Amino acid sequence: MYGKPPCRLGVLVSGSGTNLQAIIDRIESGEIHAEIVCVISNKADAYALTRAAQHRIPVVVHENAGFTERRSYDAATVEILRSHNVDLVIMAGFMRILTDVMVNAFPHAIMNIHPALLPSFPGLHAQQQALDYGVRYSGCTVHFVDCGTDTGPIILQTVVPVEQDDTEEALSARIQKAEHQTFAAAIKLFVQGKIRVVGRKVIIAK
Ligand code: GAR
Repeated sequence: MYGKPPCRLGVLVSGSGTNLQAIIDRIESGEIHAEIVCVISNKADAYALTRAAQHRIPVVVHENAGFTERRSYDAATVEILRSHNVDLVIMAGFMRILTDVMVNAFPHAIMNIHPALLPSFPGLHAQQQALDYGVRYSGCTVHFVDCGTDTGPIILQTVVPVEQDDTEEALSARIQKAEHQTFAAAIKLFVQGKIRVVGRKVIIAK
């Protein structure tokens, strides 16, 4: 009996890669029917690259320094992803805003994780923004990527409580635990073909 081939994931990273690791672990345990076919980093020293190499996943260092135009950087990224026949692009701590070149190349097939309950606190330092505002709850959001800053259709969100004496580090660590679960759950839904996008709304099949 031959089943469906695993979904081909291309993962974009810039940093430590704990979300990448969570995805790798769930693929290896058989929870997500997917294969990470390439990890692309815009930072040569990202620890995420070491994590990928430890699991024999092909890595590409694709630094943005040589590119004056964001669109030409993205065009080069699209080429790398296409050369690996990627079905779904995962932004796992990839700290760049995408242009139409990337977004149109993978319609409703680029996911990002953000450490806040969007549309609250988009952009950088979302956890500190939440602390400064004084919210009682924050969390994380997995969404499809459009050309805005954390504005695309929302797939899943998880609520995380903010403690009275929280620091940015403590809140970030609590949110990251939720990120790992939430990202994996969203990827699994995509892989299972259970996600449909209607306008701004993401419909999830039961
Ligand atoms: C994650 O907390 C993710 O939510 C955040 O970067 C971190 C990467 O951690 N992304 C953003 O803030 C994007 N706006 P990781 O490299 O350990 O997965």
